[in-house]
Amino acid sequence: MSNKAMSNEEYLNKVKELDTTTEKPKELDDIEFFTVAKERRSVRQYDPSFKIEESEIRDILEVATQAPSSSNLQPWRFLVIQDQAEKERLLPIANNQQQIVDASVVIAVLGDIQAYKNAERIYSELVKNGLMTDEIKDMYVNSILQNYGTFPAERLSKIAMIDGGLVAMQLMLAAKAKGYDTVPMGGYEEDKFIEAFNVPENLEPVMLISLGKGAKAGFPKTRLPLDDILEWNKF
Ligand SMILES: Cc1cc2nc3c(=O)[nH]c(=O)nc-3n(C[C@H](O)[C@H](O)[C@H](O)COP(=O)(O)O)c2cc1C
Repeated sequence: MSNKAMSNEEYLNKVKELDTTTEKPKELDDIEFFTVAKERRSVRQYDPSFKIEESEIRDILEVATQAPSSSNLQPWRFLVIQDQAEKERLLPIANNQQQIVDASVVIAVLGDIQAYKNAERIYSELVKNGLMTDEIKDMYVNSILQNYGTFPAERLSKIAMIDGGLVAMQLMLAAKAKGYDTVPMGGYEEDKFIEAFNVPENLEPVMLISLGKGAKAGFPKTRLPLDDILEWNKF
């Protein structure tokens, strides 16, 4: 095996050479869950002239936020980058990955490490809707503030990344079910992104997601055989 390594940018853009797919991304007429999950692929080529409606982005995000989260604290935050000039500014920060500028929008999924501070607001809503008594709410909120309030930063960060990953996945599936395509991206310079887009200190980037009308299907990927990644009961 050659041990010649590629730069990050080369690696991320190499995919275009490997991709011999000629099909367009599938527009599903069956949005049954298993079909959507199987048909979602990372799409890296988009119709740059297509602009997704803001209402559609909102619909996708509303469904995405039905994802579960630790203590229902919903630490996810979204920055939707839709202005072309802003996408151009992001391009070099994200290794010049073309989907940054060609897809309708880039959604930065961020995790709020201080999300526990919203416990009162979140749990009061349950009381308002008759789903919880005031007394139980107080118990929950106090214990959340006491626990999360003393967690070290790494633990809060891990929670934000887990919950952020869940919402990101749901976002990508919702987009596919609505006839759009996505690609998740970790290939960007986090520090530069934070600086360039004024990301507040309490928000940690989880990933970027390009969302738009796919022009070409992502190439089919294989997965490790289930039996190679699965154990039952004990290691
Ligand atoms: C956290 C994360 C980061 C990723 N970063 C990139 C990226 O920067 N650029 C890219 O083209 N694909 C990126 N991908 C997409 C993966 O390459 C892709 O999901 C994988 O090859 C499987 O292909 P599929 O999504 O089409 O099933 C990323 C995926 C994940 C989950």
